[in-house]
Amino acid sequence: MRSFTYIRSPGNLSSKEKDIEKHMEVIENKLWLGDLSVEDLMQEFGSPLYVYEEDTIRAQYRRLYESFPGVSLQIHYAMKANPNPALLKILLDEGAWLDAVSPFETKLAREVGFLPEHILFTGNNIPLSELEYGLEEGLLINIESLSLLEEFGKAHPGKELSLRINPGMGSGHHAHCITGGPRSKFGIYYDQLDEIHEILTRYQLKLTGIHAHIGTGILEPEPMLEALDMILTITHQFSGLQFVDIGGGFGIPYRPEQSLLNLPELGAQISRKFLQFCDAYGTSLDLKIEPGRYLMASSGTLLATVNNIKKTPDYQFVGVDTGFNHLLRPALYGSYHRVCNASRMEGDEESMVLAGYICESGDVLTHNSEGMTTQFFPRPRLGDRLAILDAGAYGMAMSSQYNMRNRPAEVLVTQGKARLIRKRETYQDLIRGFVF
Ligand SMILES: Cc1ncc(COP(=O)(O)O)c(C=O)c1O
Repeated sequence: MRSFTYIRSPGNLSSKEKDIEKHMEVIENKLWLGDLSVEDLMQEFGSPLYVYEEDTIRAQYRRLYESFPGVSLQIHYAMKANPNPALLKILLDEGAWLDAVSPFETKLAREVGFLPEHILFTGNNIPLSELEYGLEEGLLINIESLSLLEEFGKAHPGKELSLRINPGMGSGHHAHCITGGPRSKFGIYYDQLDEIHEILTRYQLKLTGIHAHIGTGILEPEPMLEALDMILTITHQFSGLQFVDIGGGFGIPYRPEQSLLNLPELGAQISRKFLQFCDAYGTSLDLKIEPGRYLMASSGTLLATVNNIKKTPDYQFVGVDTGFNHLLRPALYGSYHRVCNASRMEGDEESMVLAGYICESGDVLTHNSEGMTTQFFPRPRLGDRLAILDAGAYGMAMSSQYNMRNRPAEVLVTQGKARLIRKRETYQDLIRGFVF
């Protein structure tokens, strides 16, 4: 018998929550992803396992694209969120451009088929040589420091570039995720516009765009709109531009009680302000955005197997065959990822700590901003499969081989069919670089 339950908010879906389409069902008390049972997926591909759903990625892309009426919009996917080529191909097919931060990211993007002029290269604290690599490859160059701008101008007068500006404010779900304001290392601070003008004039550099990215995991429109006003004020100080790039940061509701970012409303407000700005500026500019999390997070699920269950006077620990080596966000930011017992979705829920298999006390997947915490889910038995939701962005991308643990395989589910898109690492993969 099939019962269809939406996992994020069982039994009680608001129309807003329906907006993120996750193809998850509960069938005979077990979790299915994209028409495939978690158990079958793990039997076929092993444990632990990252699973992505293609339809979710496409739906999120289209939702974003349709939210900015009337503007010439370019969506640069922030490939740092998840650079798997199979996922990049989906976004290429949808018409995405890219935000890349390192030469190897751009190399991979080119191999996948992205055009160089569709890749905005925004490194942080990079040497001139990386910008020169970008120039040779024909990428869009985005510079984020005065000293690098000076060096670049001296070596390559007359070239085109855009500038990353710190608009003096930031926002994000954790201090580490705020990328604007006086405590941020990113961009040229907005009070240094005179210096920028001097350098641009001295080396006859052609400024094509203004870029800013204030943070990530933003669920309220206000900080984005406030930053937009600031960015547009700054943009007005420069003539002859082709685009304004307002970065990424669009959040998704990880917690069941969180609401979706009201994207249609935010997009409409951004578009209105931007079109008014273009009128005042006297030219119709392109608007760029750089979403990472919004496109990828909800498409991905990390699946793991229960190895251990133990009790202390304070907690009940469930030990699994994954950890912060595969999903760092909880340990790094205190981030929440909903945990489901995929082997018994309904049952008496108990308060449990989900602990990883890495030899560190901090290797816990149920964290909050204060540290370790618990989540309620049906008490597992050894061998049960657990699903850690919304792990598609900054999950596998931030993974490591700590404790000489290999990275999991990755699988893409498309219309009820799963295919391997990254092999599970082997011992040979782990030791490849060692010189014995
Ligand atoms: C310059 C830049 N653009 C875009 C992004 C993507 O942010 P998000 O995943 O929140 O959309 C980042 C993330 O760090 C970034 O540094």
